[in-house]
Amino acid sequence: MRQLLISTALVVLLAACGPAAEQNASTPPAPSAQPSAPAAASVAPAPDTEALQAAIAALPAPYNEATYEAGQRVFAQCRSCHTIEADAPNRVGPNLHGVFGREIGSLEGFNYSQPVQDANFVWDAAQLDHWLANPQTFLPGNRMAFAGVRNETQRRDLIAYLMVESAPAP
Ligand code: HEC
Repeated sequence: MRQLLISTALVVLLAACGPAAEQNASTPPAPSAQPSAPAAASVAPAPDTEALQAAIAALPAPYNEATYEAGQRVFAQCRSCHTIEADAPNRVGPNLHGVFGREIGSLEGFNYSQPVQDANFVWDAAQLDHWLANPQTFLPGNRMAFAGVRNETQRRDLIAYLMVESAPAP
């Protein structure tokens, strides 16, 4: 009985292999064109980073001298409280997409502190530079629990990163 089962299984197996093996044999060999293409692709820099750095180069001075990746690293300090992607939710702080040209304290659905609600200006690079250098002296009593980015170059890189990432999609 067991013998019969084994040989039945073998027959089924062979039957399954048969056509596949024949197909393989009849498949023509793959053309050996473009032998150097994969090597070239692995050497080229990631196209995303290149495009983002090009966007930085198109910014007004001094932000055109910033490094995208350096700004991204500084923004890691903001990420726990802020999103920057379009339509991303607010966290402890408001979503920063489109912050340039936005009236301070004006994002729908975010509950700002009184000093921020009472302030009256539009965010631009210069205002952001002051705010980010020291949020508490810039606007005393605000609720952003963040010491600030004291290093000028880091602020330049961060603001350039914000300009690129918070811009509405083209
Ligand atoms: C610990 C959380 C926290 C961190 C870290 C933080 N923020 Fe904030 N941020 C807030 C809060 C809360 C507010 C709202 C302040 C208020 O209403 O008083 C705010 C407000 C802002 C605003 C004003 C937004 C508006 O709609 O007017 C900007 C711009 C901003 N933050 C940028 C940054 C950047 C850039 C960083 C990183 C360098 C950062 N924040 C780090 C919590 C944070």
